[in-house]
Amino acid sequence: MAEYILEQLKSQPSWLLLPITLGFLSLLKFAFSILKWVYVNFIRPGKNLKKYGSWALITGPTDGIGKAFAFQLARKGFNLILVGRHPSKLEEVSESIKSKYGSTQIRNVVVDFSGDLNDGVSRIKEVIQGLDVGLLINNVGVSYPYARFLHEVDDKLLSDLIKVNVEGTTKVTQAVLPGMVERKRGAIVNIGSGAAIVIPSDPLYSVYAATKAYVDQFSRCLYVEYKKSGIDVQCQVPLYVATKMASIRRSSFFVPSTDGYARAALRWIGYEPRCTPYWPHSILWALAYSLPESFIDTWRLKFCLGIRKRGQLKDSKKE
Ligand SMILES: NC(=O)c1ccc[n+]([C@@H]2O[C@H](COP(=O)([O-])OP(=O)(O)OC[C@H]3O[C@@H](n4cnc5c(N)ncnc54)[C@H](OP(=O)(O)O)[C@@H]3O)[C@@H](O)[C@H]2O)c1
Repeated sequence: MAEYILEQLKSQPSWLLLPITLGFLSLLKFAFSILKWVYVNFIRPGKNLKKYGSWALITGPTDGIGKAFAFQLARKGFNLILVGRHPSKLEEVSESIKSKYGSTQIRNVVVDFSGDLNDGVSRIKEVIQGLDVGLLINNVGVSYPYARFLHEVDDKLLSDLIKVNVEGTTKVTQAVLPGMVERKRGAIVNIGSGAAIVIPSDPLYSVYAATKAYVDQFSRCLYVEYKKSGIDVQCQVPLYVATKMASIRRSSFFVPSTDGYARAALRWIGYEPRCTPYWPHSILWALAYSLPESFIDTWRLKFCLGIRKRGQLKDSKKE
């Protein structure tokens, strides 16, 4: 077979060999990327996360993705530091984790990321003192209640988005890093968003998307900065997950439940600096990259204008 192909190639005019070779190489590249996708999504084993340390710190663990991370990490045998804004909600989550995984030690830290951050971060520093914090999940995040133009974003929302998504993530990371550097091990997972990376624009969510672009670049730089110190930094890029923030109650093939997301997420920790752990999301990512940007921009704008209209209607009914 190979001989036959070689004979055929030799009989071709030399000007045709270059495009044939280029075509063959791009086919090979495509086949390789498919094989790699299958390997990383279905075959590659997750890392032994306990090698990073015995405690995991999770921000925003009282609902959505963060709560699912807390349960999944307790299941893996981690002790937890849960950082949230409502003491009663923190208590409730801790109790249900302990009732399911009795041996889990849990420390709750009350921090409102839209409030006094310096005060909150110093409480975190006190609690983690002397603990072997191996895993940091920077999950806390806020978005708009519904889509809106930038001139409709009020000062409080603008400040919350920047304080919670940007400052909160940065300062918690800064608080946890010294211990990891000292122990020469650790993993940091920052939750980004497809809004900043997968789609070329997220109109009517501009500030949210921009804060997540910050998280992405922040993570990439830290990945390089701390690799040699034994610390793996990663930005996870979920698309829609069924949570309060996404206003999606039911999961589906392309919209995982929080548990489905967190289970997939743990398998990726310690590998690539940027990933989308839930594999159907990676299909949407590939699709988005294969379509013209102007097409996605137009579709997204139309979609978000619809969300804005429904949100405004709801608001007017409340008044
Ligand atoms: N869901 C999605 O489709 C999606 C897609 C891409 C990226 N993400 C990202 O994933 C992360 C988690 O989102 P989610 O959908 O799980 O959101 P969620 O269900 O709204 O949960 C957010 C968590 O953050 C906490 N939180 C919010 N504001 C806070 C503040 N000021 N201080 C302290 N804690 C605060 C919430 O606490 P309470 O329980 O007290 O409200 C809750 O525990 C976010 O970073 C988000 O940007 C989500």
